Amino acid sequence: MKKKYLKFLICPASKSSNLKIVNIKKQSKDEIIEATIKCQDSNEEYLIKDSIPLMLSKKSPSFPEMSFDKQWLLKKLKLLEPVLSSGKKPEERYNKILNIFKLNRFPDKSVFLDAGCGNGVNGLEVAKNNPTCTVVMLDVSIQGLKETYKRAKNLKNVFVLQSDLLNLAIKDNMFDYIWSEGVLHHTKNTYEALVSVEKTLKRKGMLYIWLYANYKKSYYLIMRDITFNKAYKLPFWLIYFLSVSLSLPYFIFNLTHINIKKIIQPSTKKLLKHRPLASIIFSTYDSLNPKYQFRHSKEEAISWLSKLKYINIKIVGDLGLVAKKK
Ligand SMILES: C[S@@+](CC[C@H](N)C(=O)[O-])C[C@H]1O[C@@H](n2cnc3c(N)ncnc32)[C@H](O)[C@@H]1O
Repeated sequence: MKKKYLKFLICPASKSSNLKIVNIKKQSKDEIIEATIKCQDSNEEYLIKDSIPLMLSKKSPSFPEMSFDKQWLLKKLKLLEPVLSSGKKPEERYNKILNIFKLNRFPDKSVFLDAGCGNGVNGLEVAKNNPTCTVVMLDVSIQGLKETYKRAKNLKNVFVLQSDLLNLAIKDNMFDYIWSEGVLHHTKNTYEALVSVEKTLKRKGMLYIWLYANYKKSYYLIMRDITFNKAYKLPFWLIYFLSVSLSLPYFIFNLTHINIKKIIQPSTKKLLKHRPLASIIFSTYDSLNPKYQFRHSKEEAISWLSKLKYINIKIVGDLGLVAKKK
């Protein structure tokens, strides 16, 4: 991590910002690689390992969210789709972010948080295309963060850190934009995670969250339901095997459907998108693997944002929400 990024951090145990980098064992010209962050008020210590500050409170219970570690590992090993995310290429994801915030590019020097960044698909595109902005990539899964850090190697404006959304190591009012896609519903309490993360947004800042909808079933949600919400208890290789087996019928259906449509409605040919098998397997694994996967209604999500005094709340698809902090 770069020293200047210490300004973002607080001790998750004491909430104090009185932090100091001590015991530096390895550093390069502009990176602290191995060291300790010490809270001067509580004496709690947090390691910086391979340049990533590990800011989990020791008081936190063990994290079921760590199951995502295996998901990012399987992606790295190319056993799950390595490039696409929800079927989209990185540049398509960046365009989606611009469209949602109604921007052509991010304003100079804005500060962007990717909350629950996984292996970095979203925030890194923002960093790459907006070199004057600072992009904070935060997740609880160390494997996802390692991948994110590796992919950010040539970017000078990225801060990668391990933190729990329910006990954040980030000061309030730090960000102009927060992006949290497919994350909050995987914590113990979606609303509490929202309350915790939105505190880090500045006034007039923009927030985007994407949650699972409870009024619409995708193939992947149905797969989770037919395994009685319990597949996460299996060893990861069995979840992987199950994901491959359950993805095959959908892949065949999808392919057949597209080919029939191309014959009977050739005018729609360009609009029909074939989803590769590896991408379907990834989405199935992503749905079976987490311990928590809560689903929410539009009304519920809108009421949360209204209660938190957000304005211009807009629904984007099922179920994304974009809003401005008053
Ligand atoms: C389905 S993935 C989405 C990743 C990324 N946002 C994307 O769109 O590709 C959910 C991510 O949320 C992270 N996560 C779950 N609970 C978390 C928590 N309490 N604090 C921080 N990250 C969490 C997981 O580790 C995982 O990487």
